[in-house]
Amino acid sequence: MDLKLKLRPSFFFYFLIYIFLLQKADLGSAFNPKCISTERKALLTFKQSLTDPSGRLSSWSGPDCCNWRGVLCDDRTSHVIKIDLRNPNQTLKIFEYHDDHKEGSLGGKIHPSLTRLKFLSYLDLSSNDFNFTEIPEFIGQIVTLRYLNLSFSSFSGEVPVSLGNLSKLETLDLNAQSFIDNDEAPTSFTLRASNVGWLSGLSSSLTYLNMGYVSLSGISETCLQDFSRLSNLKELYLFNCELKNLPLSLPSSANLKLLEVLDMSQNSFSSPIPNWIFDLTSLRKLFFQFANLKGSIPSGFKNLKLLETLDLSNNLELTGEIPALFGDLPQLKYLDLSVNYFEGQIHRFLEAFSKNKGNILVYLNLNHNHLNGTLPESLGTLRNLQILDLSLNSFTGSIPSSVGNMVSLKKLDLSYNSMDGEIDSSLGKLEELVDLNLMANRWEGVLLKPHFVKLRSLKSFLLTTEPNRSLVINLPSTWVPPFRLEKINIENCQMGPLFPMWLQVQNKLNSVTLRNNGIADKLPNSWLSGIASDVTELILANNRIKGTLPQNLVFPKLNTIDLSSNNIEGPFPLWTTTAVDIYLHQNNFSGPLPLNIDVLMPRVRRLYLFDNTFIGEIPSSLCEATRLNILDIRNNRFSGSFPKCWHESSELYYIDASENNISGEIPESLCDLPDLTLLHLNQNAFEGNIPKLYPNCVHIEHIDFSGNNLNGKIPTEIFDSSFLRILNLSRNSIEGSIPQVNWKFGHLETLDLSRNRLSGAIPQSLVAMSFLQTLNLSYNKLEGRIPKNLKFKDPSIYIGNELLCGKPLPKKC
Ligand SMILES: *[C@@H]1O[C@H](CO)[C@@H](O)[C@H](O)[C@H]1NC(C)=O
Ligand SMILES: *[C@@H]1O[C@H](CO)[C@@H](O)[C@H](O)[C@H]1NC(C)=O
Ligand SMILES: *[C@@H]1O[C@H](CO)[C@@H](O)[C@H](O)[C@H]1NC(C)=O
Ligand SMILES: *[C@@H]1O[C@H](CO)[C@@H](O)[C@H](O)[C@H]1NC(C)=O
Ligand SMILES: *[C@@H]1O[C@H](CO)[C@@H](O)[C@H](O)[C@H]1NC(C)=O
Ligand SMILES: *[C@@H]1O[C@H](CO)[C@@H](O)[C@H](O)[C@H]1NC(C)=O
Ligand SMILES: *[C@@H]1O[C@H](CO)[C@@H](O)[C@H](O)[C@H]1NC(C)=O
Ligand SMILES: *[C@@H]1O[C@H](CO)[C@@H](O)[C@H](O)[C@H]1NC(C)=O
Ligand SMILES: *[C@@H]1O[C@H](CO)[C@@H](O)[C@H](O)[C@H]1NC(C)=O
Ligand SMILES: *[C@@H]1O[C@H](CO)[C@@H](O)[C@H](O)[C@H]1NC(C)=O
Repeated sequence: MDLKLKLRPSFFFYFLIYIFLLQKADLGSAFNPKCISTERKALLTFKQSLTDPSGRLSSWSGPDCCNWRGVLCDDRTSHVIKIDLRNPNQTLKIFEYHDDHKEGSLGGKIHPSLTRLKFLSYLDLSSNDFNFTEIPEFIGQIVTLRYLNLSFSSFSGEVPVSLGNLSKLETLDLNAQSFIDNDEAPTSFTLRASNVGWLSGLSSSLTYLNMGYVSLSGISETCLQDFSRLSNLKELYLFNCELKNLPLSLPSSANLKLLEVLDMSQNSFSSPIPNWIFDLTSLRKLFFQFANLKGSIPSGFKNLKLLETLDLSNNLELTGEIPALFGDLPQLKYLDLSVNYFEGQIHRFLEAFSKNKGNILVYLNLNHNHLNGTLPESLGTLRNLQILDLSLNSFTGSIPSSVGNMVSLKKLDLSYNSMDGEIDSSLGKLEELVDLNLMANRWEGVLLKPHFVKLRSLKSFLLTTEPNRSLVINLPSTWVPPFRLEKINIENCQMGPLFPMWLQVQNKLNSVTLRNNGIADKLPNSWLSGIASDVTELILANNRIKGTLPQNLVFPKLNTIDLSSNNIEGPFPLWTTTAVDIYLHQNNFSGPLPLNIDVLMPRVRRLYLFDNTFIGEIPSSLCEATRLNILDIRNNRFSGSFPKCWHESSELYYIDASENNISGEIPESLCDLPDLTLLHLNQNAFEGNIPKLYPNCVHIEHIDFSGNNLNGKIPTEIFDSSFLRILNLSRNSIEGSIPQVNWKFGHLETLDLSRNRLSGAIPQSLVAMSFLQTLNLSYNKLEGRIPKNLKFKDPSIYIGNELLCGKPLPKKC
């Protein structure tokens, strides 16, 4: 009863509000602001001088300009108060070129009719493309403006001083970064300000100023004074402004007490961190990365009690210890000191955070410094930390067990240190961890199930140790881990001999590197076919993987496949793959190569098949694999003749087919390969003449035809190339004399003609070969005196020529 009485009045109350709202809606439409016709005309004139390829201003035609897209009128007075023509398709991927952005861009001329909008307080023309025209001077006449955004719009020239007349302006964004691709954009800075005295006109209104990428190189050394008098300023962005002088103090007139954000990054100051920064006690964010700052971190930072973000990265020369004072800054969330020269230990620094129990640090990047010592247990007090990057330092020891308390951690990077202890199992508690990089250290010990047990978010797991350390990964064969990895890189660990079960259930992998981990098992077919569609890297080299490979898989995204140095047998895998690098060498593959190898592997650049037992002919379809650079099929059992179909569009520069059983003539079409520099066909069964490789094959630097059945004479043209450095024709049946040519121009370093049937005298002109370091003429039928000035004194290079005489041989002439 009592309850009802209470309810009723409130019901009526809400009903009344409902009625009121209905009426309000009616009234609203009745009093819809009607556009003022002079302003409508001004807007139309403004529109007409713009270019608008994507039709963004197509709504700018009806009578009521207050309904036009991007136009806002005052409810009461109907005056246009806001124009927002920011390109909606802005992508902040500044270094990429996006057609989408260009599509949505307005361009052309900004018409002075804008000055007729006497109540305009907000103008946003950002992210458009004004094709490097100047910012119009008359913008300074729209004195009602409070917000002006001309950023990312490809303006150039001098920033007009007339902006100093905008005495109500609160926000000025002139950020001159450009979306336009580099071919079109002028290479130097496009927008510049050689004088910023006009800022004084804005000194009591401006709260936000962005002049990023505006060249200030022309302004005087005291320019910062002009900025420092903006007494209401909360955010100041002067990144990449070609500033060179950072004053060590500011004048007493400086008044930046309200400044919350200061970005002076990407300038080249060559100076220490100045002390006036520490008077800016309202600072929340300070950016000084890539600023060429030097020296150590001043204690003054302790004054900046509100500091949330500090980026001093990439100054290279900031040095000294990382001070403990950061631990006392109660608001600090983001600290980036990476790529500097900080040294010593981080114990005291972290200790300070552990005393400050309420620390809210989220991001800590100390990568690429000279820090050393062990990682202290106090690390565990960073309970809010999400990103921790300590890579590329000289830390030693093991991972402290307190790491398990860093419950917010998403990314942990300890790579490229000298950590030589164990990896603590408390790591396995980090449920949020996505990215774990433990590469390039000297880990040892055993990783067991607890190390991984709760890592349900893990996507990337990188772990390498040195080959002479013992790091074992030993997980129960029936255990299904809670993570599905996308990237795995484990090297020099012991995770065999069986192909681990926990790995077999990883079916989302796109990058796999498992090198030298003692896996002595077959590759599980279901695993391989499961990841085939997404995998880009498949590197399983230096294990003892055995068995045959499944056939007919399709790898549509593969770049690199490396199965080298295993015990894989059976035929060449008939895989259709986009791989560029294919390493199958040092296995026990057998059988012939597929005839359509160019179709199966249309993008292959490097094909390494050496040290296997492939048989049959080398398929001539390799001539059509026009991207092929390197073909190494040495030490197999290929036979038959060598393909003759080589042609100009091939990029082959390295052919090693030595140690096979290839017969027939060496095809002269090899010289149609424009880039060929190395040709090793030694230890085969080639016969016939030495091909006349020159003058076509001008780039061959290394020729090895030794150990074949070649006969006939040495073609003199072979020495015409100034590129030839190594020529080995030994162990053939070559006849005739050593050609008398002008050796002076050659760069031959090694010439081996031993074990042939060469006759006649050693030509005197050989003396002129200044680059020659190795010569062997032994076991031929050469005769006469060894030229006196020939520098080679080892008799073994002349022996076996019975009619040869003179030093260094004992036989006198
Ligand atoms: C913005 O880009 C999308 C495609 O990403 C396109 O459909 C749309 O038309 C673009 N808008 C403008 C205004 O150009
Ligand atoms: C100015 O416009 C750009 C994008 O066009 C935007 O990212 C930026 O935040 C704007 N500046 C201000 C101060 O609103
Ligand atoms: C941009 O300006 C250049 C001259 O500075 C001109 O050649 C070019 O046609 C202009 N591009 C557009 C799209 O207006
Ligand atoms: C600022 O406005 C005044 C008064 O309208 C004018 O005389 C002066 O030329 C303007 N200054 C600039 C730099 O445009
Ligand atoms: C750590 O670095 C400091 C400063 O470079 C050096 O003096 C110290 O010897 C190093 N300690 C070790 C154990 O390498
Ligand atoms: C272990 O191997 C690394 C290189 O991988 C080498 O620098 C180090 O000296 C080796 N240590 C021992 C004890 O052999
Ligand atoms: C290589 O495979 C052949 C059979 O194709 C086999 O006879 C030989 O033992 C294998 N060699 C090795 C080292 O596994
Ligand atoms: C080399 O090939 C020839 C046929 O071209 C064959 O008769 C011979 O047995 C092969 N030699 C070896 C060692 O395989
Ligand atoms: C030339 O090739 C043979 C093998 O066919 C090799 O024994 C010899 O060392 C090579 N000569 C030089 C100078 O490398
Ligand atoms: C020259 O060749 C012969 C026969 O191949 C070899 O025995 C001798 O060691 C070679 N001399 C040098 C210096 O390599």
